[in-house]
Amino acid sequence: VPLRAQLEQELRSAIRAGQLRPGNEVPSSRVLAQDLGLSRGLVVEAYEQLLAEGYLTARRGSATTVAAHRPHVERSGPVETAPAAPPRYDFRPGVPDVSMFPRRAWVSSVRRVVNSADSAAFAYPDVRGPAAIRNALSEYLNRVRGTVARADRVLTCNGFTQGFRLVCQVLRERGVKSVAVEDPAHRAHHQSVRDAGLKTLPIAVDVRGLVVEQLKRTDAEAVLLTPAHQFPTGAVLAPERRAALLEWAAARRAWVVEDDYDAEYRYDREPIGSLQGVAPERVVYIGTASKTLAPALRLAWMVLPMELVAAVTQAKRQDDLGSPSLQQLAFADFLERGELDRHLRKMRLHYQRRRDALIAALRAHLPRLRVSGIAAGLHLMLELDAGADEKAIIAAAAAQSVGVYAVGAYRARAKRGPGLILGYGATSEATIAEGIKRLGSALAGPRA
Ligand SMILES: Cc1ncc(COP(=O)(O)O)c(C=O)c1O
Repeated sequence: VPLRAQLEQELRSAIRAGQLRPGNEVPSSRVLAQDLGLSRGLVVEAYEQLLAEGYLTARRGSATTVAAHRPHVERSGPVETAPAAPPRYDFRPGVPDVSMFPRRAWVSSVRRVVNSADSAAFAYPDVRGPAAIRNALSEYLNRVRGTVARADRVLTCNGFTQGFRLVCQVLRERGVKSVAVEDPAHRAHHQSVRDAGLKTLPIAVDVRGLVVEQLKRTDAEAVLLTPAHQFPTGAVLAPERRAALLEWAAARRAWVVEDDYDAEYRYDREPIGSLQGVAPERVVYIGTASKTLAPALRLAWMVLPMELVAAVTQAKRQDDLGSPSLQQLAFADFLERGELDRHLRKMRLHYQRRRDALIAALRAHLPRLRVSGIAAGLHLMLELDAGADEKAIIAAAAAQSVGVYAVGAYRARAKRGPGLILGYGATSEATIAEGIKRLGSALAGPRA
């Protein structure tokens, strides 16, 4: 380290540590240079640097002193504590098996893109996402999810979470006051609605999905729902409800936000096509790579009604000038090469085996309880008897190192229909078998 930098560092440390206090005079450059056997010019340069940084102050004709505002000092020691270890047999919902991430195919897409993209690809991106990903996504979503997508109505974002927040903001700007949300639902989604200054109207969900009759009785001007696989109950929106919902939206000129977070995983038949494909000018479709590939990508996409494209693009521009575009180009390459289709074919079988193992274990160890929401996704619901105490059951399970999650935690209104949400995406078959065995003995205690 050069001498000047060493001297600066020593002085900074002494000031930070309080060895040199605010107001203390520092030796003149001549004296310090003599003491340390350095050139005077070097000491002057070090003082000038510390003056510029605000550690020292100098007034004409008087000595240089330590500045009055001593920089804030962090206390030493580890800043972040390690997160608590998850339970050994963890059924947390919403997490895919990230150990199966297709690393090799992904790396080869990244390499191809970084090696071959022209230099414009490294500049600020098109806020909507590079044309290559919007084209590739349109093709993929039209083929796999039955959307009516075209590159000019597609916009990429950082996860469903950002996309939905931008949409809420735009709806608010357009005069929307309240958004209906499924009850139960992902808690963060309620919060996103409220953060935009909108009111949430919880609407009940039953085995046929969102109770549209109840929605019709509200004055909601928009609704957020998970029609392909309700989160967290697992219900699939029934055909007559889909029709009624879209009729309601058309009659009210209301907006439907379709959260299509894990629709690609449907085990008993082809996934039901998106609502967007039926009513592209009323439905905001939001899909994500968080369940199909990895949440770490923070990559999601919206297919927007044309009426909203300009406003949502502007909101995205103001928020962050666009999502990371090299990663999106890699994803476009990955899609075009059929790598996502290949990965999903593999993962569907993988998750189906886990789901079947979970159902079999529940039949063996908790045969009395009903299981629902098994047709799709990465989690199911174990229905408990009315009056069952979810908290006591979760505590009893935790005592056996089993992590299960209460549906009550996702409810906005009165506790009814107690149940446990069991995710199987990131849980091996052996863990499922042992975990459910333990859950069975835990539930022998509290009333289930
Ligand atoms: C219901 C639901 N929607 C959307 C998401 C995905 O959010 P993101 O794309 O921000 O990871 C999740 C993830 O847990 C979810 O459970």
